[in-house]
Amino acid sequence: MCGIIGYVGDRDASFILVQGLKRLEYRGYDSAGVATFQDGSIAIRRCLGKLENLERLLREAPISGTVGIGHTRWATHGRPSEQNAHPHRAGKIVVIHNGIIENYLELRAALADRGRTFSSETDTEVISHLIDERVQSGQDLVHATRSVVHELEGSFSIVVMHEDSPDRLVAAKSATPIVIGLGENENFVASDIPAILDHTRRILFLEDGEMAEVTRDRVTLSTFAGDPVAREPRTVAWDPVTAQKGGYRHFLLKEIHEQPQAIIDTMRGRILQEQSDVSLDELAKADWLAQARRMVFVACGTAWHACLVGKYFLEHIARIPAEVDYASEFRSRDPVLDEGTVLVVISQSGETADTLAAVETARERGAKVLAICNVVDSSIARKADAVIYTHAGPEISVASTKAFTTQLTVLYLLGIYVARRRGVLSEPGAHALIQDLVNLPSHVEQCLKRERAIEKVAKKYGNARDFLYLGRGINFPIALEGALKLKEISYVHAEGYAAGEMKHGPIALINEEVPVVVLLPKDAVYQKSLSNMKEVESRGGRIIVVTDAPSPELEDIAWEILPVPTSNPCLLPVLLTIPLQLLAYYIADYRGTDVDQPRNLAKSVTVE
Ligand code: F6R
Repeated sequence: MCGIIGYVGDRDASFILVQGLKRLEYRGYDSAGVATFQDGSIAIRRCLGKLENLERLLREAPISGTVGIGHTRWATHGRPSEQNAHPHRAGKIVVIHNGIIENYLELRAALADRGRTFSSETDTEVISHLIDERVQSGQDLVHATRSVVHELEGSFSIVVMHEDSPDRLVAAKSATPIVIGLGENENFVASDIPAILDHTRRILFLEDGEMAEVTRDRVTLSTFAGDPVAREPRTVAWDPVTAQKGGYRHFLLKEIHEQPQAIIDTMRGRILQEQSDVSLDELAKADWLAQARRMVFVACGTAWHACLVGKYFLEHIARIPAEVDYASEFRSRDPVLDEGTVLVVISQSGETADTLAAVETARERGAKVLAICNVVDSSIARKADAVIYTHAGPEISVASTKAFTTQLTVLYLLGIYVARRRGVLSEPGAHALIQDLVNLPSHVEQCLKRERAIEKVAKKYGNARDFLYLGRGINFPIALEGALKLKEISYVHAEGYAAGEMKHGPIALINEEVPVVVLLPKDAVYQKSLSNMKEVESRGGRIIVVTDAPSPELEDIAWEILPVPTSNPCLLPVLLTIPLQLLAYYIADYRGTDVDQPRNLAKSVTVE
């Protein structure tokens, strides 16, 4: 999510740091900062907005030094601002951080009780205070950092400077990436290889639970337990553009593969397995939510498909009446809204003009607004009464993938949260739903492992001119999403239909030329969907079935079977989505389209 760089050597650190951060600009960020050792102390420059602003600041108030750290921030805790930008200082310690510290509120309260004061709203600042407490009590930087990482819960990577150790940086990694770049009389630390590729290709990859002490001529690796680690560097052959894509050919493919981690980041800190409940701190004051008489879901495009699944969750899990509308339609009709209605808006960017207008309409008419967004402090997030953030990280490819599956993750959590507060979900019921969610990332991982088989299917059907996608119930929106993904990135015409609607018209389209993608989970409507599939077969349609229950019977009917692991019916939409994303990607790639920037599309639609 955020970008990290560190430098120890003989050259002008601030220049190298800013250049490195520029190589990470593609990831998206809202503020930036650098810190260097200068004349016996640490100088920090930070600012809101683009790196140009930081460069301007550095021209006006230059900092010297040959050792330093730099950071671009994508806000998670606390809005984008200069105060919340990294690096964060406490006493003699300065820290940059990627990831999320789940127990930061607890740690912050304990630090406050010990007399510490804070100058930001971030989770990061607690790390600098904790390490400072230990160095103040006489520990060296490595030991102090090691003892603090044991107190942190969540996913993080950090790089730390200590005013009394001006020749070194200490890095630690729990889940988000950290690499060490090896140079001649200089060494580098980074969250991503592109940041340091201009200087070195000899890279040491830190594993989870490892630390590095980095000086200009030495890198010492150890585990959080203090055991030494011996590892040979690898030489990476990536060109700068491939490196930005993490070695994948396109951002879209990278983002499809990031989904297990994005789902983990989105549910982290929000599930209370032992209490069989969901904790959404952001809703602490939103008692109107559980009291709502009705929910209206509103969004555009892929986020609208998430709304359709969300309606199902809220009706099925929380027994609350729910309806769904396109934001563009909602704003142009005369909706009936009152204080018993909660408008749930979903938007990856938080800037979509129609969705924003829907928020304004709802607020004018007295309804409460709950937003589900990926971009902290975006316009929609600011205007809503409450926000739940997906923690998908920046989505760069225009077509939405990881934002969608993390939206479904939040909606599932929301369903359980509301159901528990309305007293309509038993503790064992909630426990079972939560356990299935915990298993979801590894199930998504298993779907991704079938990539090569899906690529073959894509090549076989890649010349088709039209596709039909069929799904029923909670998986009807997934049929819509599969069709949308295919048409937007491959420019192949595709229609998503509720399977039961097929015989009311679209069946006329079916012939030997048209591949029909059927979503066929073994759920309550399996037999009905199977009958629809047989209707397609008898008209010569080429059936690609996506199912958690492959069987000899299906082999007789379907041309291709794309299996997914099984789960509870509410999580199958996530699992069925993954093969459809890969199918769309590989068909687009086969047809040679501009996968990451499809024609006529923009990432954020800020016009009506
Ligand atoms: C499709 C896609 C779009 C967006 C839609 C809403 O892959 O990305 O359909 O989902 O434009 O955008 P947000 O979620 O930013 O409001």
